[in-house]
Amino acid sequence: MFLGIDLGTSAVKVVAWSADKDAVASQASASQSVSSPAPGWSEQDPADWIKACRDALKSVVGQIDASNVKGIGLSGQMHGATLLNAAHAPLRPCILWNDSRSTQQCQVLSERAPDIAHRAGVPPLPGFTAPKLMWLKDAEPGVYAEVAHVLLPKDYLGLWLHGECATDRSDAAGTLWLDQARGDWSDSLCAASDTDPSWLPPVFAGTDIVGALRADVAADIGLTAGIPICAGGGDAATGAVSVGAVAPGRGFISLGTSGQLFLCTQDHQPNPECFVHAFAHTLAGAHFQMAAMLNGARPLAWLAEVFGGDVVDVVALAGQADPARAPTCLPYFTGERSPHGDPDIRGAFIGLEDSTRKPDFAYAVLEAIAFSMADATDSFGGSLNAAPHLLAIGGGTRSDALLKMIADATGQRLGRAAAAEAGPALGAALLAARGLDAISDARLGEAPEVSTWFEPSERSELLRTRQERFRAGYRALAPLHQAHGL
Ligand code: XUL
Repeated sequence: MFLGIDLGTSAVKVVAWSADKDAVASQASASQSVSSPAPGWSEQDPADWIKACRDALKSVVGQIDASNVKGIGLSGQMHGATLLNAAHAPLRPCILWNDSRSTQQCQVLSERAPDIAHRAGVPPLPGFTAPKLMWLKDAEPGVYAEVAHVLLPKDYLGLWLHGECATDRSDAAGTLWLDQARGDWSDSLCAASDTDPSWLPPVFAGTDIVGALRADVAADIGLTAGIPICAGGGDAATGAVSVGAVAPGRGFISLGTSGQLFLCTQDHQPNPECFVHAFAHTLAGAHFQMAAMLNGARPLAWLAEVFGGDVVDVVALAGQADPARAPTCLPYFTGERSPHGDPDIRGAFIGLEDSTRKPDFAYAVLEAIAFSMADATDSFGGSLNAAPHLLAIGGGTRSDALLKMIADATGQRLGRAAAAEAGPALGAALLAARGLDAISDARLGEAPEVSTWFEPSERSELLRTRQERFRAGYRALAPLHQAHGL
């Protein structure tokens, strides 16, 4: 039995995966919230991660034979700056992946390191880790002076679990400090972003064992002390592992709080013009390209909160709308990375009429998620030709209507993967199983069964017109937000 822990943004999820049965034996999650103390800020207290992780772990451990657990793998939200002093204590709340406070610092970083987009795999944007350190130096010099370690979120959980500072290639890839082609920290990128390389942990492959479960944590959770813990990966990479996307040409889309279009590549293949991320994969020597959408399927959950129902109700409402009369939604509630690289943009509904009702808003949001994915597939250009179809994972895959709309808008054949919702936590468990030799490389590359296929239909004239309005809407609103911070 192997445990995978995924430190998500809205919850920590734990999966127990049985290597004997090749199946998920049990899973649990514990939710957590994000705080936004100022516009564009997005933070979480690392102590809350530990609490949620402890709760989810205890719940899973209570449902399995704990003495059978042979290894643990980690996964987590990428790009966060967890700032620790020399005694490993957090100095302030973690600054998360969807935080946009460091826009100015990104400009400075681009000037100081003009080749950064090619070396680090993507042009500087505020969500990444390096500009957050520059912001800290400018805005909170007292805190900056005390920084002794910088960890990615899942690696802070690792520190709690096994006591070591360590990271993996794929999470390191999202910092702007990694030389992607070499798979190790770049001293010059660190220097350009006011970061002392000694603050950064050693970089491992996701299958490497980086520590052993501490006795006090083990006793608290009900596990055996000393269980080996593998480095794991950033949630994009562990999501990929969960669907066997570890070899060139294999890809998937993820519909969680964020959204991703992910494709494994032969080597480091930068495509910075469209803010496609070219990152090191978690396995040694492997690479991928990824379009990262900050808003993923989150706008559906947002509308459910506003309407006071749940996501299923919103999807059902969308079915009652007349698509020809629905407004167009721009889903950029926290800015957008791929393909716009625009931290200033915000969400909008365009084309409201006196007759616009709840179903029309619901339809517009569903469509906006699909159109974002279509922008992502377009930004990949020819590289997607290598992928005959894409598997879909994440909470958003529960909706047939959404997957069908994405297939239509992107023209891609989509398959809902069997364990679609276990996603990154399952990938982390599989990395641990591989690291401890319980499974082969071939098993790691196996695609899961597909429970349903979604075939693209010929795009209707209406969908084309609405997609054009969606794109024109962004072009019209972007200058407004840039100029006025609206
Ligand atoms: C990937 C990204 C998100 C976060 C949160 O670049 O920003 O996937 O990892 O899930």
